[in-house]
Amino acid sequence: MREAVQIPGLKSALAAQLDAARRNTLELLAPLSDEDLVKQHSPLMSPLAWDLAHTGHFEELWLLRTIAGERASDGRLDHVYDAFESPRAERPDLDLLSPKEARAYVDEVRLRVLEVLEHVDLDADDPLLRDAFVYGMIIQHEYQHQETILATLQLRDGAYPLEDEPDPVPAPPGREEVLVQGGPFVLGTDDEPWAYDNERGAHEIDLPDFWIGTTPVTNSEYLEFVEAGGYEDRRHWSEHGWVWRTEAGAQHPQFWERGASGWLRVRMGHREPLPPKEPVQHVCWFEADAYARWGGRRLPTEAEWEKAATWDPDRGKRRYPWGDEEPEPFHANLGQRRFRPAPAGSFPDGVSPWGCYQLLGDVWEWTSSDFLPYPGFEAFPYREYSEVFFGSDYKVLRGGSWATNPLVARATFRNWDYPIRRQIFAGFRCARDA
Ligand code: AVJ
Ligand code: FE
Repeated sequence: MREAVQIPGLKSALAAQLDAARRNTLELLAPLSDEDLVKQHSPLMSPLAWDLAHTGHFEELWLLRTIAGERASDGRLDHVYDAFESPRAERPDLDLLSPKEARAYVDEVRLRVLEVLEHVDLDADDPLLRDAFVYGMIIQHEYQHQETILATLQLRDGAYPLEDEPDPVPAPPGREEVLVQGGPFVLGTDDEPWAYDNERGAHEIDLPDFWIGTTPVTNSEYLEFVEAGGYEDRRHWSEHGWVWRTEAGAQHPQFWERGASGWLRVRMGHREPLPPKEPVQHVCWFEADAYARWGGRRLPTEAEWEKAATWDPDRGKRRYPWGDEEPEPFHANLGQRRFRPAPAGSFPDGVSPWGCYQLLGDVWEWTSSDFLPYPGFEAFPYREYSEVFFGSDYKVLRGGSWATNPLVARATFRNWDYPIRRQIFAGFRCARDA
């Protein structure tokens, strides 16, 4: 990446990446009626037309107003599409752009952005432009909102048309866990040009030996916990976890149903037999934690996760579990090629140096860690991306899901959410002390 950004084709590459992200967003929204786009499908989520216009507004803010000094195209939008000024619960009552207006607005912004891109000096002494960071931020932001859109579609009533690539043939690893040798390793990054502020800077951490699951926990493994009465047994749950379990009345992962002839899962409105080999998804942190305790294990810390994913004991840090090459379809299930995780043991070409499968893609993996700043953290370019969320309210998730674009799914990328959230495409793998 460092070298790639010096090449003369950089601007056309950025234009192509902006365009690919936008086409992907519009494709996701294309099957939906205007009514579906303006409706709030869940109090947890925005109307989908909000996500679209917010994406364009964020692009205007950074790539037109900040970079090119342009004035606001319509000051009224600032309040409506600022995520902090207008929290999710209030979004349906706002004076939103209609789906047609939102599409026209994002088109207009994009036309100007491409004009500005032609003239912008990417070698200027500006940290926003170095390595085209601000363009990378906008592209990633759009892909991150696609994942929000997909979570909304998962919560929505009604069947969304699904196109899945066929599953790869899994080659199950034959052992449940691997030993990661203790010793220092480097957490975080100074080198990834498009890394967010919360992934910086690289710093050494000394970890003792630990064991970590070769694959994420599967539906059939999780079902054993359900059928063993795990949801009824207080002993497996943390104090807060038990409060959540009781108040939510949870008895199994969200979107599972007990059918007359076996378990089903509902995937974007489609009822399917529960696929036993798929990593479990739509469990909250409390459920992941309880499952791990039930088996005498625990969740990995985010440092353990990143060491298992990136640390080559002979040669140090890799960009990805498989090495330094950019993700290809045979490495991992990323980028919405299928709207579900792939069976455990898929992608032997994506295995980490320690022998872990599917660290990137398939499901976000809950870690035991709170979302905290790394030493020397500096907010860049704005406090509201990371800094205002630091603290013990949020747990860190790692690795991306089937919905995550490869441009976002860095091995150092940190996602976070409340420990009660289940609509995200999250599962987990277990760990234990050695
Ligand atoms: C990093 C996924 C927690 O969706 O709230 C989108 C990403 N930040 N717009 C979120 C984000 C601003 C963020 N997460
Ligand atoms: Fe956003």
